[in-house]
Amino acid sequence: MKGILLAGGSGSRLYPLSLVANKQLQPVYDKPMVYYPLTVLIAGGIREICLIAAPEDLPRFQQLLGDGSQWGIHLEYRLQARPEGIAQTFLIAADFIGDGPVTLILGDNLFFGGDALPRALAAFQGGASIFAYHVTNPSSYGVVELDASGQARSLEEKPASPRSPFAVPGVYLYDGQVVEIARSLKPSSRGELEVTDVNREYLRRGQLQVTRLSRGFAWLDAGTSTSLFDAAAFVQTIEKRQGIKLGCPEEAALRRGFLSLEQFENLIQKMPDCEYRHYLQGIGTDFRRAESAQMSMPA
Ligand code: TTP
Repeated sequence: MKGILLAGGSGSRLYPLSLVANKQLQPVYDKPMVYYPLTVLIAGGIREICLIAAPEDLPRFQQLLGDGSQWGIHLEYRLQARPEGIAQTFLIAADFIGDGPVTLILGDNLFFGGDALPRALAAFQGGASIFAYHVTNPSSYGVVELDASGQARSLEEKPASPRSPFAVPGVYLYDGQVVEIARSLKPSSRGELEVTDVNREYLRRGQLQVTRLSRGFAWLDAGTSTSLFDAAAFVQTIEKRQGIKLGCPEEAALRRGFLSLEQFENLIQKMPDCEYRHYLQGIGTDFRRAESAQMSMPA
């Protein structure tokens, strides 16, 4: 499974913050926003990732994330000349996708809690797999209507009168048909290639699977100044209470085995003396302790 991180868009709802930097480069509490969806991909076991951004922002992303080798992953980049819709991803990155499966994650979406996403990735067998999440404001999102067995009945993009309270979060798993489906799309009335139309086509083909994300699972998007502030407050609350960090690619890479403990420790050496470094040092110490406890176990 490959991964695509979509980090373009116009960020108009974040104006004037978006004058300073692209939305996905803004801070969410103690890290750049893009770290959070990137960490979801790494934690899901995805090592080959393509980031898509606007031409003026791409150099900054490349400077921030490099080629990914520091986290044991491979990162490549593609340009989106204009924000012409989420589904344009599959045209821009067609050569990266090839005919294999791909997970698309939106750069301003934050996911925390449980193992629903890694499980869906591990269980993915073909077609499309999307998620449903109960929200108070479904009209702001793609909305999925579910039947009694939990299967999708209809999908609508930002409906004025939603048929259900279930929004479709910005993480989508597709098989190789997605490029051909995207090529057949026509722009919507707002002039965008809509990801909801991609999902509709999988539904029409009888190949759309929907997983309901449970209570307690947190899905946040950080597209407005209020939701950006809420997301930062959420991250701070969890981190302070639990003493863990969310959206930490170094930690996810270590836990996934993409980095050895030695590589992880070398990476930390290069960081300035700061809270982020101290946290990672603690993770490294825990790993070293667990390793030596295992080595001293009788065979
Ligand atoms: P949106 O929040 O729907 O759009 P936006 O980022 O342009 O912001 P605004 O509505 O305030 O102008 O986008 C959701 C995510 O998808 C976000 O991470 C940006 C990304 N995106 C692209 O990269 N390219 C696109 O063409 C679109 C529409 C979105």
